[in-house]
Amino acid sequence: MLWLIGNSGMLGSAVEKILLNEKLQYWATGREADITDYRQIERFSKNKEIAWVINCSGYTQVDKAEAEPERAFQTNRNGVHNIAQFCLKKKCKLIHISTDYVFNGKKKLYEPYSEVDEPDPINIYGKSKLAGEGEIKKLLNDYFIIRTSWLYGSNYSNFVTTMLKLFKEKDTVQVVNDQWGSPTYTVDLARVIIKIVKDNVRQYGVYHFANEGAIAWYGFAQEIYEQAKRLGLIENKKEVKIVPVKTEEYKIAVAKRPKNSILSKEKIKQTFNLGIRPWNEALGDYLNEFPFREKN
Ligand SMILES: NC(=O)c1ccc[n+]([C@@H]2O[C@H](COP(=O)([O-])OP(=O)(O)OC[C@H]3O[C@@H](n4cnc5c(N)ncnc54)[C@H](OP(=O)(O)O)[C@@H]3O)[C@@H](O)[C@H]2O)c1
Repeated sequence: MLWLIGNSGMLGSAVEKILLNEKLQYWATGREADITDYRQIERFSKNKEIAWVINCSGYTQVDKAEAEPERAFQTNRNGVHNIAQFCLKKKCKLIHISTDYVFNGKKKLYEPYSEVDEPDPINIYGKSKLAGEGEIKKLLNDYFIIRTSWLYGSNYSNFVTTMLKLFKEKDTVQVVNDQWGSPTYTVDLARVIIKIVKDNVRQYGVYHFANEGAIAWYGFAQEIYEQAKRLGLIENKKEVKIVPVKTEEYKIAVAKRPKNSILSKEKIKQTFNLGIRPWNEALGDYLNEFPFREKN
């Protein structure tokens, strides 16, 4: 059986949807099995046969982490240590999700980061996630760490939902134009996670996954606007001016963010014989399926 940790989150809920659709047997937990408390992990798993653990949980508030590093580390390092400890004891395989923010972003623009590039996080969130990766590597051999980037999906608050809200409410929206990455639809990543389990893949290690292509947040916002207009998610008469700004001009963000966090997908594509679709195509699917669309 499989244990999905963090099923109440944005990615976890996408994974659970596929598990349900494919009628795979699993257990799923959110906060009721707090990963920072090993006794809760043991209590939940008592008398259960578990072969795979998929960890989609995490402390994910990048800006807030700067003010509460101990909470970020408690979940992203200590909690992950507990999960790895559990996997070691029960001899189960682990799929764990990490982030593009383990890199400092100083690589030349458009040059993607591969799995052999040296991490060097520049914010607390990235540091705590890298520490979690370290705990797994210290304890386990049978693990997949999948680093991903710029996730959006389902009805969770994310960059796409934020933009849609702003496009409805404002006439002008400022968006950062000097941070590059690859937007990733949770459904596409969830499919890969389930493929690894179903194919019982054994090429363990660190992998990068994101939708194909790269863009700055500003370009991502422009594409959301254009697609949303075409789909009637924004009133036809409403024109919104999207203004590109530099990171330094965008005062709301507290945490530093890498300028380039484009991930190379070559390893995961080759190892698992995967095709990955472009980010703008995946965005189209998301906007089409968006559960809260109000027709104007
Ligand atoms: N979002 C992104 O853009 C992005 C980018 C790269 C990598 N990632 C990584 O991808 C993974 C999934 O991200 P996401 O955006 O789906 O995150 P999310 O929506 O914030 O979900 C995280 C989940 O973890 C749960 N959780 C937090 N602390 C926990 C604890 N101590 N014990 C048990 N569960 C706990 C949360 O429960 P509550 O709902 O109760 O808080 C929530 O269900 C994370 O590892 C994240 O670091 C995300």
